[in-house]
Amino acid sequence: MIITIDGPAGSGKSTTARKLAARLGIPYLDTGAMYRVVTLAALEDGVDLRDEAALTALAERTDWDLDCGPTHTRVTLRGRDVTEAIRSMRVNDHTRFIAGSPGVRRVLIARQRAIGARLASMVTEGRDQGTAAFPDADAKYFVDAAPEKRAERRLHDLRADGEDVTYEQVLANLLERDRTDAGRPVAPLVVPPGAVRIDTTHLSIGEVLDRIVADLERRGLLTPAARTEP
Ligand code: DC
Repeated sequence: MIITIDGPAGSGKSTTARKLAARLGIPYLDTGAMYRVVTLAALEDGVDLRDEAALTALAERTDWDLDCGPTHTRVTLRGRDVTEAIRSMRVNDHTRFIAGSPGVRRVLIARQRAIGARLASMVTEGRDQGTAAFPDADAKYFVDAAPEKRAERRLHDLRADGEDVTYEQVLANLLERDRTDAGRPVAPLVVPPGAVRIDTTHLSIGEVLDRIVADLERRGLLTPAARTEP
């Protein structure tokens, strides 16, 4: 069973996807982490971020990996654990170049499909999971929230990671990323056909999760064990 969760930064999709995967006892794929680790590799190697061929080669040939458990995703780059390093503002500020590269997207979508085929069941989260990567997913969700609310959530996460940033900086970065995610010619962020839309502005993660679980129940996609868990 493949469940996709797409949506903009700070919509609550990562936490929702992680918790849903844990509840169902299946792995969780954080596809944003793939774009982030390729971004970090490009920054470390000083690759020209507008050089399409160089970026594609980097995504294809660099030794990076994701370990997708139900409650964690550990990311390695050339054998180093970069799980935290890929969340820095520096990486945030440059992901749009990597996400806007058709070649990188082709490489990463192929990796995502290979992971899906190997795992058979997973919750996968990103911007294009219900569209480009898994158009035939068993269930698709699109989560969104007001930009101010998303900026608040992002600020909270960044400060927890020790980043010294202001609300204004986070909001500006998020609006810029919304603009490039939705406006880019390659794989713009859209609501996937057939996706259930959830506005999380006034919902807790628990409430979002309850809605998804109720929807999966309605479709007969939940096992009895998952249904009875708290
Ligand atoms: O969800 P995130 O903030 O970790 O995503 C990091 C970047 O990668 C962001 O610029 C959006 C982009 N992305 C994408 O284009 N497609 C995906 N499936 C996942 C993320």
